[in-house]
Amino acid sequence: MGNSVILAIESSCDDTSAAVVINGKVISNITASQKVHENYGGVVPELASRQHQIHIVPVVDEALKVAKVDKKDITAIAFTRGPGLLGSLLVGVSFAKSMAMALYIPLIEVHHMQAHVLALFAEDPKPPFPFLCLTVSGGHTQIVKIEDHLTMTILGQTIDDAAGEAFDKCGKMLGLPYPSGPIIDKLAKAGEVKYEFTEPKIADLDFSFSGFKTSFLYFLKKKLSENPDFIQENIHDLCASLQHRIVTILLNKFEKAAVDLDIKHLGVAGGVSANSELRAKLKALCEKHEWSYYIPKISLCTDNAGMIGVVGYYKYLNKNFVGLDVKPDPRMAW
Ligand code: KG4
Ligand code: ZN
Repeated sequence: MGNSVILAIESSCDDTSAAVVINGKVISNITASQKVHENYGGVVPELASRQHQIHIVPVVDEALKVAKVDKKDITAIAFTRGPGLLGSLLVGVSFAKSMAMALYIPLIEVHHMQAHVLALFAEDPKPPFPFLCLTVSGGHTQIVKIEDHLTMTILGQTIDDAAGEAFDKCGKMLGLPYPSGPIIDKLAKAGEVKYEFTEPKIADLDFSFSGFKTSFLYFLKKKLSENPDFIQENIHDLCASLQHRIVTILLNKFEKAAVDLDIKHLGVAGGVSANSELRAKLKALCEKHEWSYYIPKISLCTDNAGMIGVVGYYKYLNKNFVGLDVKPDPRMAW
């Protein structure tokens, strides 16, 4: 097979993204984020879908322009089929199908969470098989064992909220706009871990964040009844404390997985892996055990089409294509 020039499209949640991936290398990766959700404490599906419709054409044009690729040179189109919001997915899927039809080129469906993991293959050095990936985003929290580019098993996952949701919901309680994960990360830098929240007792390699979220809410209510300015006066320490708890919950289980399975190569993926404390602590943990670690650059951690194109590349090599009758799958299974 000759060169593969893949145009990748991602529209599962609130970021519209397009990328050009040539022979597995991300050449351009353009993302338009949506500010409209900021004051709602979460993504409003109908607004997200409308924003995707506005952004998709300029974002694709820009990705092609930056990569200096003409439409006629594209060899396949990869798109996120799921999981995600139906109205959001529909925009990317319909766009990908129309373009594949117009250009007479194959279509490749991509699972969004598998793409987060394969973001680790967008840069060098690439992890050797098998390795473990902690995949943490706004909707998922998973420990995944990766045996091959397209062969992955979930070893553990959250039984309730995702790690990103824990950041965003606690941020909302603190009066921060959505998504508050990155804001908490920034505010925590000037704070100290002053408040302790218990770690949930969940079996095996699964996670739970809802108990932590409730204990954070009751803690805040109690403190606010004593001092109405408690949040403003202690925002940095509050962010540092809640971030510390979320990061230790994640890394304690990830360490256990690596020890239990005797796997010495660890990676992180998904929006929450942009968190500076998580990145620093994973590095320290791996150095302590003499494990190797793989942490993608931030633009490849949060939702982006580059990672969709990387999966597209490996599927392209296997001629793993889908027909034009493909539909979005909001609850797509692995
Ligand atoms: O993977 P992603 O971009 O979208 C989903 O597929 O969900 O992840 C978004 C999540 C949000 O919950 C956001 O608050 C969180 O990632 N996030 C962070 C940071 N950057 C993004 N959480 C903590 N610290 C960050 N620096
Ligand atoms: Zn994601």
